[in-house]
Amino acid sequence: MSSVLVTGGAGYIGSVTVERLVGAGHSVVVLDNLSKGHRAAMHEGVPLVVGEIGDRELVAKTLTEHKVEAVIHFAAMSLVGESMEKPGDYYQNNVVSGIRLLEGMHAAGVDRIVFSSSAGVYGEPESVPISETNRTAPVNVYGDTKLIFERVLAWEAERTGLKHISLRYFNAAGASGRYGEDHRPESHLIPIALQVVAGRRPELTVFGDDYETPDGTCIRDYIDVRDLSDAHILALDALEKGRSGIYNLGNGEGWSVLNVIDSVERVTGRVVERKMGARRAGDPARLVASSSLAIRELGWKPEHPELDDMIEAAWAWMMEHPGGYTE
Ligand code: UFG
Repeated sequence: MSSVLVTGGAGYIGSVTVERLVGAGHSVVVLDNLSKGHRAAMHEGVPLVVGEIGDRELVAKTLTEHKVEAVIHFAAMSLVGESMEKPGDYYQNNVVSGIRLLEGMHAAGVDRIVFSSSAGVYGEPESVPISETNRTAPVNVYGDTKLIFERVLAWEAERTGLKHISLRYFNAAGASGRYGEDHRPESHLIPIALQVVAGRRPELTVFGDDYETPDGTCIRDYIDVRDLSDAHILALDALEKGRSGIYNLGNGEGWSVLNVIDSVERVTGRVVERKMGARRAGDPARLVASSSLAIRELGWKPEHPELDDMIEAAWAWMMEHPGGYTE
């Protein structure tokens, strides 16, 4: 079992991963600036260092004090739309501060990292399902920052021998029971649809129904946050064996926006009030993963591949946390 620093461990995917790391017997410390994360999403008994990943000295000190052997790096700005409005902030946080984190790791002699990358690195895919060898051509700043940092890791590996695994997430969904999705403001499809049925929003706008897909709405590959988290634990094992690499994490199945709305109605027994709207800038029509490499090399196996199960978990979490996390 390793001692692990989780950056962004008070966020959505980070909190579920911390819970599962602790469950698997790892010792964990979290570094989070709480700009998006929630103190209430901190797993009990896990120390929280409130600070910046770009604070090299703080990173090195934390790694040394907690005898950390590996880092799981979630902390990032992650909204596609916002990234187009504030590109400088995204390159600063996701690239420059990420490089400072690597410098802190190097200073402390920590040479293993799992990095949260994104399907956003592919842009409009040349073919579907998308494998890791597909062309990478981001269509938004967010995806570009993730791709640049993957390259930074590869160069650092040449220079310092860093071992790195980048996990390209498709669309994270669901909840773990204790930890769930609470973005402010919320921009993701499933929580928005659930907020509509919960009476916290009047309606959902479907962003475009004129795409070249069977029902005209965008298709995404939703992956349960618990399965996503488990892949990080497997990635730690792989790093320990000296493996580096890049892996897609998705179900290999696509659901359209209307499929998601149907599922929300099925699970909650309520109607999702919706209206058709214009396309959202930067949305590829269809993103579906081939995760066969992660299955083969990491031994990953999604346990919750059904969209209804993910939505049921997200709905249960929302019912228990009607106002999200309260600090
Ligand atoms: N959508 C709507 N109405 C809404 C919100 C979303 O129709 O109110 C649609 C979007 O246009 C898209 C789909 O629902 O077609 C899913 O949108 P999300 O915002 O939930 O997720 P994205 O696919 O845009 O983004 C996710 C991650 C990003 C990552 C990206 C990779 O949140 O971090 O996948 O494609 F970069």
